[in-house]
Amino acid sequence: MTSPDPTPVIDLIEAFRRSKAMFAAVALGVFDRLEGGRALEATVLARQVGANPDGLERLLDACVGLGLLAKEKGAYSNLPVAETYLRRSSPRTLSGYILYSNKALYALWGNLEGAVREGKHRWPETFQMDGPIFDHFFQSEESKRQFLAGMHGYGLVSSPSVVAAFDLGRFRRLVDLGGATGHLATAACERYPSLRAAVFDLPAAIEVAREYVGRSPYADRIELIAGDFFRDPLPEADLFSLGRILHDWAEEKIRLLLAKVYAKLPRGGALLLAERILDDDKSGPLSALMQSLNMLVCTEGKERTLAEYVAVLKEAGFTSVEGRRTGAPLDAVLAVKA
Ligand SMILES: C[S@@+](CC[C@H](N)C(=O)[O-])C[C@H]1O[C@@H](n2cnc3c(N)ncnc32)[C@H](O)[C@@H]1O
Repeated sequence: MTSPDPTPVIDLIEAFRRSKAMFAAVALGVFDRLEGGRALEATVLARQVGANPDGLERLLDACVGLGLLAKEKGAYSNLPVAETYLRRSSPRTLSGYILYSNKALYALWGNLEGAVREGKHRWPETFQMDGPIFDHFFQSEESKRQFLAGMHGYGLVSSPSVVAAFDLGRFRRLVDLGGATGHLATAACERYPSLRAAVFDLPAAIEVAREYVGRSPYADRIELIAGDFFRDPLPEADLFSLGRILHDWAEEKIRLLLAKVYAKLPRGGALLLAERILDDDKSGPLSALMQSLNMLVCTEGKERTLAEYVAVLKEAGFTSVEGRRTGAPLDAVLAVKA
């Protein structure tokens, strides 16, 4: 009997090494030093980033293998993908999510078995921290900014597709609950010229949102509101959105939040969700399955199928619920109050 091909297993043995190599190169500032087409040799870069020359050369060669750097006559330079997404000062940078992954998620995933055994996140075991999940992200100015920059980078990739998934042209005021840096509100204002929007988030996040929204061409149509969506009254809106919020929380908190949203909406108002939707039989997509495990290690929540979203939304009172795959990292669900 012939043995099955071991390639998938060998690939998975090595998969984390590829992620970690990219995380380390971003954390060391390699791609920042190579900004704008600059080409540098390993010894020069090693001096600049304060690294061991041999160790850095191996990392740089690995990044060439990963398709992030080019190497010519011993000098390394950014390939376009690194220049756009891995440089910290690039407007489309994903470095926030990478640095947050490097510091927080990588360590939390190190305790995945415990999360699976107990069905609970790993903040206490990994970082000796207990308490509400967002306290961890907001424990220091640096971790707050890193987390929000991470949300922003991913949001820039997803939000334009999420707001285009349904025709939202009939709505007048969108309030994005837990809207972080305002990327969804900005994308919605860009697509729907008569829409006004508000970003509602915790006071610590709103401080940062003010900077991001201030730089957006739609700043004069976007209000910033500090508040707690579980405790405070919700602002007026005929369209609410919840982007990557329902997947953070336990079932009873989701019910509470959806009931508040439903009660606040006028008839004909709606709720837009931005989440990764699992296939009906939970066999994919792989990114959503991995995100659900990610939620297990770092939150109270999980990813859901469209049928599961329909069930919680209908329970809250919404009548028509539709889901759309966007092709972007986040999908969209629209629930309307009749
Ligand atoms: C996973 S992030 C998603 C951010 C954003 N919606 C996005 O998709 O990029 C969760 C957001 O919810 C906010 N948040 C957490 N608890 C909150 C609360 N009780 N009230 C308001 N916002 C809250 C966090 O500050 C954070 O910005």
